[in-house]
Amino acid sequence: MSFANALRCRECNREYPLDPIYVCEFCFGPLEVVYDYAAMRKAVSRESIERGPASVWRYADLLPCDADAAVDIQAGFTPLIKAERLGEELGLRHLYLKNDCVNPTWSFKDRVVAVAATKAREFGFKTLACASTGNLANSVAAHAARAGMEAIVFIPSDLEQGKITGSSVYDATLIAVDGSYDDVNRLCSELTGQYPWAFVNVNVRPYYAEGSKTLGYEVAEQLGWRAPDHCIVPLASGSLYVKIWKGLQELVKLGLIDSVHTKMSGVQAAGCSPIISAWDSGTRNIRPVQPRTIAKSLAIGNPADGFYALEVMAESGGSGLAVSDEEVVEGIRLLARTEGIFAETAGGVVCSGLKRLAAAGRVDRDEVVVAFITGAGLKTQEAVMDTLTPPLQIEPTIASFEKAFGERSVVEARPAAGSAS
Ligand SMILES: Cc1ncc(COP(=O)(O)O)c(C=O)c1O
Ligand SMILES: [Zn+2]
Repeated sequence: MSFANALRCRECNREYPLDPIYVCEFCFGPLEVVYDYAAMRKAVSRESIERGPASVWRYADLLPCDADAAVDIQAGFTPLIKAERLGEELGLRHLYLKNDCVNPTWSFKDRVVAVAATKAREFGFKTLACASTGNLANSVAAHAARAGMEAIVFIPSDLEQGKITGSSVYDATLIAVDGSYDDVNRLCSELTGQYPWAFVNVNVRPYYAEGSKTLGYEVAEQLGWRAPDHCIVPLASGSLYVKIWKGLQELVKLGLIDSVHTKMSGVQAAGCSPIISAWDSGTRNIRPVQPRTIAKSLAIGNPADGFYALEVMAESGGSGLAVSDEEVVEGIRLLARTEGIFAETAGGVVCSGLKRLAAAGRVDRDEVVVAFITGAGLKTQEAVMDTLTPPLQIEPTIASFEKAFGERSVVEARPAAGSAS
């Protein structure tokens, strides 16, 4: 069962019923789900969670929807991988990667949409919609298919082909808007008032956002019920980052971990870094920007949760950093080369950000560090394609193979037959 008991304005604390609403009528602040933590604490334990399914639904008691009627495509409970080779290269002894590439639609967005779709169906909506930089659209389309709902997803028209195919394959209605994500988002906010649809990141946003808490829960559980010392997280709207922090804090409230001493570091691409610019200028006033970066999934020029992300950065003692597009590509290749994980551009942002933070001593070599790899690389092939070694073209003969292979590298001598190995 869910222990959610109200929505509360983050600014003036006014409370609202658990309806499909998202802004405070009095101050226009964003609404957030609040819970009866005392009752929740009695119901959950490490053991009860560990007995649950290998998906976000193992944390159903900590989420704002009824898991018995979940729209479930098995989001979450992704691997936490000890990154020995990348750690060695960066000089970090306890580096872990949270590999959210392996979600059902290959990004962490399946976590938020699992919760939003379940809640939307609970509210009686027949249509799931969203404003998306690509990954969210993919996940909304897949969850709608699973739920037998209609999907209408809005994206900027310049997205990568993998993100487009990754929505249309589920028979979603895909609306490509001639404009930036921020234009798409504004349009969707206007449409929300006119169509009886659940826009997962507009009118259902308070519930949707809670899905990202599961990344915090999982990492703590997978580390043996302890919070990491340092998290490295990509920032677009800032929601994911803020909710990982909220998830960790809740585990303390529930007595599931002892304390949170986690530094939360956030990374953006320099071509769209409104949160980092504010951080660097020491202000909480975010100045919207026009995105210009290959990290399209993070290209939000006017981030809804930017202010709250800056608060978490300050409170946790984390760092903020922006990396160039060249570093995004280098980061993707570094991760692939050292750990065998092919991440999308957001993963390149995180990997290069981590590299810089480690080199600057802002991540300590003895810290337990978790880098969040939030989406898979086959969706953004355009970013790396031209930098990779093309295949050797040969005729189907040994001679042709040896010529091409020999020209490329020194052929290792094969041991002669019968020789000792
Ligand atoms: C792969 C990936 N990582 C991270 C993010 C950042 O999410 P948020 O908007 O919650 O900051 C996004 C957002 O679309 C994304 O697609
Ligand atoms: Zn308010």
